[in-house]
Amino acid sequence: MLARAKLNLSLHVTGQRADGYHLLSSLVAFADVGDEVRIEPGQKDTLTVDGPFANAAPPLAGNILGQALAMVRRWNLDALAREPLSIHLTKNLPVASGIGGGSADAAALVALLTAGRPLSDSEMADCLSLGADLPMCLTGRSAIVGGIGEENRPVALPETHVVLVNPGAEVSTPAVFKALPDKTNAPLPPWVEPRDFAELVTCLKTTRNDLMKPAVRLVPDIQNCLKALADAPFARMSGSGATCFALLETESGAENLAGRIQSAHPNWWVQAGRLST
Ligand code: C5P
Repeated sequence: MLARAKLNLSLHVTGQRADGYHLLSSLVAFADVGDEVRIEPGQKDTLTVDGPFANAAPPLAGNILGQALAMVRRWNLDALAREPLSIHLTKNLPVASGIGGGSADAAALVALLTAGRPLSDSEMADCLSLGADLPMCLTGRSAIVGGIGEENRPVALPETHVVLVNPGAEVSTPAVFKALPDKTNAPLPPWVEPRDFAELVTCLKTTRNDLMKPAVRLVPDIQNCLKALADAPFARMSGSGATCFALLETESGAENLAGRIQSAHPNWWVQAGRLST
């Protein structure tokens, strides 16, 4: 199952809870670029990993996939989860990079183990405590997200192509939130469904990613990624970084831009794809 990259097209930080988690008002979308999670019955629980970022993936016990498996077993409803499992992960997405890779992997495993059945409120709450991005990854649809990630209102987006760029720096999400001086910013403006790509870009230009400035202070290379994407109609950082994205109207536009950036920066992770609508 494809564990798709999550992009925060906009990310406004609107407050902070007493437990330290931040309240968000975020427009989220998913790209058709992602990790791959497969399961089959095994003799004992195992995790094998391949793919370009395999070395960054911890073993099962320390991996969010191990925690997701234990969580579904605690629910004690899903026959598949009761047997020893051989899990295989193809790690295509850079880790700690603002595109929800770990949460997407966990969401894919939960969906496989529960055969896509609807989750109860308490099961969703368990998912949220495993990763704030997990509920949105389980839904897997473009949405306006609130709370710390648990409120999810699906929205429709026009056909949109994307280029993702990561300079190869892992970013600590808590460190970026900590470096944000003002935690009480205005939420997203009221949502008006964009009729086409141009309207989406106009709408996004009235929004922000509040984590961008603190992330750039911690990882100055993010600025270079944004510069490389600056010719596109719209570019921004996702989540707490360091992955940045550009939005383009056509597939060929996205592929051309990705090709140019990859040639100029052979060490960067660069991917062209399409947003799921
Ligand atoms: O839930 P997740 O593991 O993705 O979050 C990593 C860290 O990011 C949290 O421990 C917290 O410090 C910070 N965070 C936050 N507010 C959010 C999401 C994450 O402060 N809404």
